[in-house]
Amino acid sequence: MIDIEKAIKILNAGGVVGIPTETVYGLAGSINSEEGINNIFKTKERPFFDPLIVHVSSAKQAKTCCSEWPPICDQLSQKFWPGPLTFILPKSELISDKISSGLETVGIRMPDNIKTLELIHQLGHPIAAPSANKFTKTSPTSAEHVQQEFPEVFVIDGGPCKIGIESTIIGFDKNKILIFRPGMVTKNMLEEFIQENKLDFSVEYHESPIAPGHLKHHYMPKKPLILKNKDISLTENHNIPAELSKNLACWSLPADSTMAARELYGKLRELDNESSNAICIEFKDEQLKDDAFAGIINRLTKAASYTLPQELSNKS
Ligand code: TXA
Ligand code: MG
Repeated sequence: MIDIEKAIKILNAGGVVGIPTETVYGLAGSINSEEGINNIFKTKERPFFDPLIVHVSSAKQAKTCCSEWPPICDQLSQKFWPGPLTFILPKSELISDKISSGLETVGIRMPDNIKTLELIHQLGHPIAAPSANKFTKTSPTSAEHVQQEFPEVFVIDGGPCKIGIESTIIGFDKNKILIFRPGMVTKNMLEEFIQENKLDFSVEYHESPIAPGHLKHHYMPKKPLILKNKDISLTENHNIPAELSKNLACWSLPADSTMAARELYGKLRELDNESSNAICIEFKDEQLKDDAFAGIINRLTKAASYTLPQELSNKS
């Protein structure tokens, strides 16, 4: 494959490449190239305090990136890899402080995309890749999205992302799995996995103070985003400026969480380009309570300038 050969040349020369994954497109650099890692931060305009996720092509390779590999990671990787689940583990000497932003831990996952797996395999070592968007902006779910934002970057086209939002990030604390960032591998799925394997583990959400990606505002479109419950009317007295609510580009979250996640970022980009003053995304009460929507609601509350009810913004 010509695009993989070209990508390998760029990575080995300290450049960055747009890579397809099942979640969102990544902006990759070789973990062996300091210049490549620096170029990721420079291209994204990302501050150095926000650590990168390392992408591997096998569980065996993942083990070389960390100094501890809890036995549960064997079972988790067998079940969920390749796929949208990232482990936070103590890092090995292969992982520079730049990649981990000075933390002693590293985020690792094996993405589910045949071209990217082949790229890592042929390169012979892992790549570090954040989502391929400018810092705090909407993540890309197609090669065109990446090309529009970074015209100078070579992008491997792997088609549209089938998951559509970033991976679930988990860490471990004794017999607890901590969900640092919710995603389409849900709390329920992890609990079912524990039951099936008869493991003595529990799962809980944990907003990680050491995961700087959990900044309040992230995933943001250019126009203000109003995130609201369908049952709340915008004509009531809210803190939303009147000129915004007069001219809105709207979307109701699909009832099916798989579809909602897959369409989310593409829709945000589309609505951002309309001639409206603001974007409005509506959800139903039951979606807010549904574990399958936890990742989607998490991204939307971080992307939103206004939420109705207002308390929703405190949840993220
Ligand atoms: O699905 C995904 O995870 C995508 C694709 C490209 O794989 N990647 C992605 O990367 O979402 P990014 O950089 O947009 O988000 C990575 C986030 C960081 O902002 C941080 O919150 C968390 O992962 N993270 C990375 N390393 C960490 C660490 N050592 N400890 C805690 N959190 C970490
Ligand atoms: Mg990101």
